[in-house]
Amino acid sequence: MTPSSGGTDRGQEQGSWRWIISLRACLTMWIPIALISVCHYATMSSHTWLHDVYRRLYYIPIILGAFSYGLKGGLSASLIISLVYAPHAFTHYFVHDPAASIEKFLEMALYNIIGIITGYMAQKERKARFYQEAISARLASTIEEKKLLQDQLIRAGKLKALGELTAGIAHEIKNPLASIQGAAEAIADEIPESSPRRKLVEIQRKEIKRLGETLERFLAFARPNKFFLSEVDLCDLVENVVHLVGPQAAKKSVELIFQCFQTPISVQGDRDQLIQVLVNLVINATEAMPDGGKVHMAIGSYNVGGKTFRVIEVCDEGQGIAKEERERIFDPFHSTKEGGTGLGLSISAKIVEAHGGFMKVREGTDGQGACFSVYLPADAESHSVL
Ligand SMILES: Nc1ncnc2c1ncn2[C@@H]1O[C@H](COP(=O)(O)OP(=O)(O)OP(=O)(O)O)[C@@H](O)[C@H]1O
Ligand SMILES: [Mg+2]
Repeated sequence: MTPSSGGTDRGQEQGSWRWIISLRACLTMWIPIALISVCHYATMSSHTWLHDVYRRLYYIPIILGAFSYGLKGGLSASLIISLVYAPHAFTHYFVHDPAASIEKFLEMALYNIIGIITGYMAQKERKARFYQEAISARLASTIEEKKLLQDQLIRAGKLKALGELTAGIAHEIKNPLASIQGAAEAIADEIPESSPRRKLVEIQRKEIKRLGETLERFLAFARPNKFFLSEVDLCDLVENVVHLVGPQAAKKSVELIFQCFQTPISVQGDRDQLIQVLVNLVINATEAMPDGGKVHMAIGSYNVGGKTFRVIEVCDEGQGIAKEERERIFDPFHSTKEGGTGLGLSISAKIVEAHGGFMKVREGTDGQGACFSVYLPADAESHSVL
């Protein structure tokens, strides 16, 4: 809960009359007043010093009331004390020394003055504190937004340089690879199916195919695809991804769970590219659970820095990602997997950023697994691909 919302709760508590019978009011004001009064009335008038002590003890619930509930608290406590204390002072006035009673009346007036002043001051201080808390919360969200933007800029710079480098290397490899593939096919034609060397040719073909696919991935990272924007219904999008990757995940005992509770939530985006993002996330989630498990997907709307974002979440029950590792997983070529190119997340982040959005990662709800969130702006104006 943010500090400002904490303030609202207390404000609501103060707004109604229920605070009078709250546990806090009983502990800070009503019970101490009752205890002091009982002791006060039960003490014989000959014990003057004890009466003096009890009279002064009344200031404690007044101050506690003021600090807990502001002006209302301070004044209520002082009025109740005046009411409880008045018969004592009256008795004193008629039976004993009138001069001492006047002093007691003055003390009652002082109770109320102290109640009003401390209550007013505490209320003023609390208002200033809530205001400061609200400003701090706003400041924190602005700083977070700025940091996010900075990170995006740094990554965009890195991606650009890496993109150019990768494009150059991929281009250099592509032509010789095509020649190798041609030669391999020619050799394969000359080796009969029954030959023991046929197996080697199959391995050669498989590896060339794998290299070709990796190269395609590098090129996809290096030159961004063209965007074809349309209205994309997120429920429909996620259901599509579940159909696409579900059977493959099921083979690894991974269940994809998604239920569309919301009324249609849509964004302006490139449907195929957004599918690519979610497929990457689901494949990563599946790979993070080698013994099987569940991938939960959900959609919703959030407000970040006064802007509305549609959010798609992909959470798994895998080994999770260490805090220090989370910073690096969006970096291109960062992979902890054997045979991984480390491009899945950086390509995904690039696509999402081109839509004017951003991606976040956190640990799963029970501290298990990883949760990736894709934030896409609800309005189309933020898109850098438009
Ligand atoms: N759901 C996840 N759980 C745990 N770690 C993850 C998860 N998703 C990503 N990672 C970590 O982030 C790294 C980068 O992921 P990314 O998808 O970019 O590359 P990759 O999966 O290693 O390779 P590629 O996607 O190119 O096959 C992964 O190697 C892995 O360490
Ligand atoms: Mg991946």
